[in-house]
Amino acid sequence: MKLLLKLIFFSCIFYSCTSEQLAVSEYDTHLMQNIERVSPTGDITSFILPEDGDYTPLKQEPTNPMTPEKVALGKLLFFETGLGADAVKEVGKFTYSCGTCHVPAKGFMPGTVQGIADGGIGFGLDGESRARFHLYEEDELDTQGARPLSLLNAGFMTNTSWSGAFGAGYANEGTEDQWGVNTPTEVNHLGLAGLESQNIEGLHLHRMKFNREIAEEYGYKEMYDNVFSEFPEEERYSLTTTSFAISAYIRSLLPNQAPFQNWLKGDMTAMTIKEKRGAILFFDKAGCVNCHKGPGLNNQNFFAIGVKDLYETGEAFATGPDDLRNLGRGGFTGKDEDLYKFKVPQIYNMKDSPFYFHGSSKRSLKEVVEYFNEAVVENENVNKNISAFFRPLSLTEEEVEDLTQFLETGLFDPNLNRYMPTEILSGKCFPNNDVLSQVQMGCE
Ligand code: HEC
Ligand code: HEC
Repeated sequence: MKLLLKLIFFSCIFYSCTSEQLAVSEYDTHLMQNIERVSPTGDITSFILPEDGDYTPLKQEPTNPMTPEKVALGKLLFFETGLGADAVKEVGKFTYSCGTCHVPAKGFMPGTVQGIADGGIGFGLDGESRARFHLYEEDELDTQGARPLSLLNAGFMTNTSWSGAFGAGYANEGTEDQWGVNTPTEVNHLGLAGLESQNIEGLHLHRMKFNREIAEEYGYKEMYDNVFSEFPEEERYSLTTTSFAISAYIRSLLPNQAPFQNWLKGDMTAMTIKEKRGAILFFDKAGCVNCHKGPGLNNQNFFAIGVKDLYETGEAFATGPDDLRNLGRGGFTGKDEDLYKFKVPQIYNMKDSPFYFHGSSKRSLKEVVEYFNEAVVENENVNKNISAFFRPLSLTEEEVEDLTQFLETGLFDPNLNRYMPTEILSGKCFPNNDVLSQVQMGCE
């Protein structure tokens, strides 16, 4: 911080600062002090995200080290509609991909209350018009009883999903007797990290297929041979290797071009005064940093803040009051003390969603901030384990606006399109390939 202040000070002597720029530096100083106070290293750099291609600071699976080639392969597979070979109806085959429910332009969320892959139709501009295809019954749809998580900053997560059910180590040490009991987590017995485990299960769950024939048909064989040469050939073209490549790609998804990131890296003009005032609150009075920590502003701990469940929107398919997902971490561990606790999600690029919390109960970031400010549990089924950090914040109306501004634009990377391929090897339309999406996306 001292260095930055010196720089600002000297540039003011040489270039004669306007009063506005001087006023800005007061906010900068205040914000730096607030961040330093909560930083585990005592300085603001601990919140800086790695640059694209810098994989060392990320939590990697030791048996699946990241390489640029692997990330590039995963980038194609994530959007490859050619993998959707296990659709329940002929008409659904090859119409969806991971990118159907995790849309880059929606912060890798679906842009709707709930994601629908197989059995869904349409895309709209950016996923917002995905709907149920009338030939599918409700119980035939590929949907889940919680809003899809964003995949940004997942490289800082050891255990994935809202309940943290995936991944053999870390938070899940000691939960072994629950693997595969109430949740489809048998895959944890492979001993892999959260992403690798979840993505093996996810490929099955989302009705996708991969084998040597598919690799050859679409032209992926050479890339697999190159990236997975250490796998014996009979194991090389599988859902496991596919998950490995996709996991490497997901770890590379870093919103490191957001104004707040540029500010942290020394560009004091990257944020507006309003964003800085919001950030000052985030790291202090509003207490957000008690739970949203580290460069990803996420957290491998689980907290109950009492938001409503997805079925309560009245707009979601195939979920209801008995959905195990409503119980959060407790639905996985079976422990009373884990009931209603959810993983702390990352919060970059939230503005485009706009469906917030696991049950999509809020429709704007201002509503989210007001929820935290008032701290009144909205879900009447949640009667225990509410976090002590969830308490009234006494933010004024102006402070609510400032904090909302920081979330909306300060934590917004405008260039996430760099994480999308220009085409996929099958040549099919992506991330969706149903007839309506094809028209809407202009790929017939
Ligand atoms: C039908 C919509 C849908 C599709 C298709 C889909 N996902 Fe998801 N994804 C979800 C939902 C819902 C969640 C949250 C589930 C939960 O936690 O209960 C999620 C969560 C995740 C997470 C956890 C992130 C975290 O931080 O914990 C990962 C990783 C993930 N998905 C990867 C994938 C991959 C890879 C694919 C393609 C193989 C995929 N998803 C396809 C709906 C979808
Ligand atoms: C007690 C820990 C805690 C505190 C304090 C906290 N959060 Fe969160 N936050 C969470 C959890 C847990 C969730 C997910 C809850 C759920 O969906 O069930 C969440 C969700 C969110 C979301 C929605 C993310 C999504 O994927 O829909 C936003 C935005 C957010 N928090 C912003 C904030 C802001 C701003 C503050 C400060 C005012 C704050 N949080 C304080 C734990 C916390």
